[in-house]
Amino acid sequence: MVETLTSSPSIWRFNHRRWIPNLSSSYKTLFAFLWIVVFTSLFIWQRNFVDGLSIFRRPLLVRPLPRLRPVAFNLTDFGAVGDGVTVNTLAFEKAVFAISKLGKKGGGQLNVPAGKWLTAPFNLTSYMTLFLAEGAVILGLDDEKFWPLMPPLPSYGYGREHPGPRYGSLIHGENLKDVVITGNNGTIDGQGQTWWKKYRQKLLNHTRGPLVQIMYSSDILISNITLRDSPFWTLHPYDCKNVTIRNMTILAPLFEAPNTDGIDPDSCEDMVIEDSYISVGDDAIAIKSGWDQYGVAYGRPSKNILIRNLVVRSMVSAGISIGSEMSGGISNVTVENVLVWNSRRAVRIKTAAGRGAYIRDITYRNLTFENVRVGIIIKTDYNEHPDSGFDPKAFPVIRGISYSSIHGEGVRVPVRIHGSADIRVRNVTFRDMSVGITYKKKHIFQCAYVNGRVIGSIFPKPCENLDLYDEQGRLVKKSVSENASDIDYDI
Ligand SMILES: *[C@@H]1O[C@H](CO)[C@@H](O)[C@H](O)[C@H]1NC(C)=O
Ligand SMILES: *[C@@H]1O[C@H](CO)[C@@H](O)[C@H](O)[C@H]1NC(C)=O
Ligand SMILES: *[C@@H]1O[C@H](CO)[C@@H](O)[C@H](O)[C@H]1NC(C)=O
Ligand SMILES: *[C@@H]1O[C@H](CO)[C@@H](O)[C@H](O)[C@H]1NC(C)=O
Ligand SMILES: *[C@@H]1O[C@H](CO)[C@@H](O)[C@H](O)[C@H]1NC(C)=O
Ligand SMILES: *[C@@H]1O[C@H](CO)[C@@H](O)[C@H](O)[C@H]1NC(C)=O
Ligand SMILES: *[C@@H]1O[C@H](CO)[C@@H](O)[C@H](O)[C@H]1NC(C)=O
Ligand SMILES: *[C@@H]1O[C@H](CO)[C@@H](O)[C@H](O)[C@H]1NC(C)=O
Ligand SMILES: *[C@@H]1O[C@H](CO)[C@@H](O)[C@H](O)[C@H]1NC(C)=O
Ligand SMILES: *[C@@H]1O[C@H](CO)[C@@H](O)[C@H](O)[C@H]1NC(C)=O
Ligand SMILES: *[C@@H]1O[C@H](CO)[C@@H](O)[C@H](O)[C@H]1NC(C)=O
Repeated sequence: MVETLTSSPSIWRFNHRRWIPNLSSSYKTLFAFLWIVVFTSLFIWQRNFVDGLSIFRRPLLVRPLPRLRPVAFNLTDFGAVGDGVTVNTLAFEKAVFAISKLGKKGGGQLNVPAGKWLTAPFNLTSYMTLFLAEGAVILGLDDEKFWPLMPPLPSYGYGREHPGPRYGSLIHGENLKDVVITGNNGTIDGQGQTWWKKYRQKLLNHTRGPLVQIMYSSDILISNITLRDSPFWTLHPYDCKNVTIRNMTILAPLFEAPNTDGIDPDSCEDMVIEDSYISVGDDAIAIKSGWDQYGVAYGRPSKNILIRNLVVRSMVSAGISIGSEMSGGISNVTVENVLVWNSRRAVRIKTAAGRGAYIRDITYRNLTFENVRVGIIIKTDYNEHPDSGFDPKAFPVIRGISYSSIHGEGVRVPVRIHGSADIRVRNVTFRDMSVGITYKKKHIFQCAYVNGRVIGSIFPKPCENLDLYDEQGRLVKKSVSENASDIDYDI
């Protein structure tokens, strides 16, 4: 196991001065010396020229890699071959093992150079930086035989798609501290196509695995790379603390890539997701905290989550979702400066009877909707349950949801807040909203069983469930009835 050194050609370390007295002893040797100088210069010039040419042939020329830990390894030090065919699981495992011995000394960095590094799932370790160089692609083996099975997540009690165990994730971590996955826009590619096809054909007996799943861990940073074509959810931090996800590209086909959510913060606290582009086959982001009676028993909320400066796209589900699994509770979430474009839905809260717990103190600010069918949605009958053991009287509490500076164009239904007699939506606030609509029907700001207020100028005209205030905070018109229902799914 060799430490990576900054490579410098040995020719430059040549000590010229020592040779000069001997060589100049006669004209003959001087002539020979000049010959060598000319020849060497020609050789170096030619090499540089060839290198220069290769810039045009291979646009992905290696950028110098930053040293982010006291010790850095090169994946090739462990025998890996980046040909897209050789299976490199053992090399990854050896590298992780080497880094696991360095914890007390500040940890280690594993550089993955340009190339296609095929591998089965492997685990990360604490105090580790996985650095994907420009042109580096970690390719997930797409044969489920190589994917280990793991017990269901305790707060789901169930593999999510099938009862019993589930496949682990391609890149996995449990009980870790201080893990960084970053790079010069290298890629982790789950090769999900095979999985999606098998899922549709019902050939899988277990729930598909996520691309990256970090569980029971803290101080996690994931940045500057691309994640694509996950078999299932793409990036799943589960029961973690202090997670930062920044400057990422997350991609999957918009259709026929089932359940390829971008990021699923699940029972996590103190989390930031920012400066990223996400375009996937399900929710771009879905904040969760466990499912029905299993989530209630596990009792770990998602809270203190900041989501900002994103461009997201989802044709099957929504840009930013909360739920539907939220049985540990979800609170104190801010979503700001987000553009949702060419999508089915923009921001959605989804839950159902049986979930219990709460969704509260959710702030949306400065959202732009560009060609989305439905902008703002709260849905309280998302009746998908792990089994029949849920308590149908466990009604989630939804309150303190605020939307301000909401703009956009090409929106069919700007708002649909569908509460019910059992799950009422309380204390909703709208302030400064103007959304260009594509459909001139009367009731496109739809509400049922919701109370709260609109403040100042709101377009289109808000539903009558809400109190009207002017910019100065004076009540202009009291709600007619918070229980009125104006929901129309046929628009
Ligand atoms: C890793 O090793 C390979 C093969 O020896 C080399 O081509 C590559 O430049 C090295 N990369 C880094 C980042 O050290
Ligand atoms: C990876 O981590 C999981 C969960 O901690 C563990 O069950 C599994 O044995 C680990 N795999 C390897 C190869 O270390
Ligand atoms: C984002 O990541 C890319 C590489 O993926 C890098 O070139 C760029 O500088 C990063 N931007 C910021 C603001 O960190
Ligand atoms: C990173 O790579 C992805 C996928 O190739 C690309 O869409 C994105 O623009 C790149 N990001 C940067 C900062 O170069
Ligand atoms: C699923 O189970 C069936 C019946 O037990 C078995 O024949 C099949 O090989 C299994 N498929 C996979 C992908 O494990
Ligand atoms: C959060 O994690 C980052 C590393 O990702 C670390 O630098 C920072 O100190 C942690 N913050 C807290 C409050 O522990
Ligand atoms: C992302 O890349 C940029 C540019 O190389 C660098 O300045 C920044 O520190 C990186 N960010 C993280 C969080 O690694
Ligand atoms: C809410 O979350 C933010 C981070 O987004 C945090 O700074 C703030 O302290 C949290 N508020 C409460 C009341 O915990
Ligand atoms: C609102 O969000 C957009 C990105 O969607 C950003 O360009 C703009 O600067 C934000 N405005 C404010 C006032 O933060
Ligand atoms: C209602 O929601 C607003 C904004 O979300 C919040 O400031 C206020 O404290 C809430 N009021 C009650 C009574 O919960
Ligand atoms: C709305 O319905 C709830 C229960 O469904 C009831 O407690 C409340 O009094 C009703 N409010 C109005 C204004 O009718």
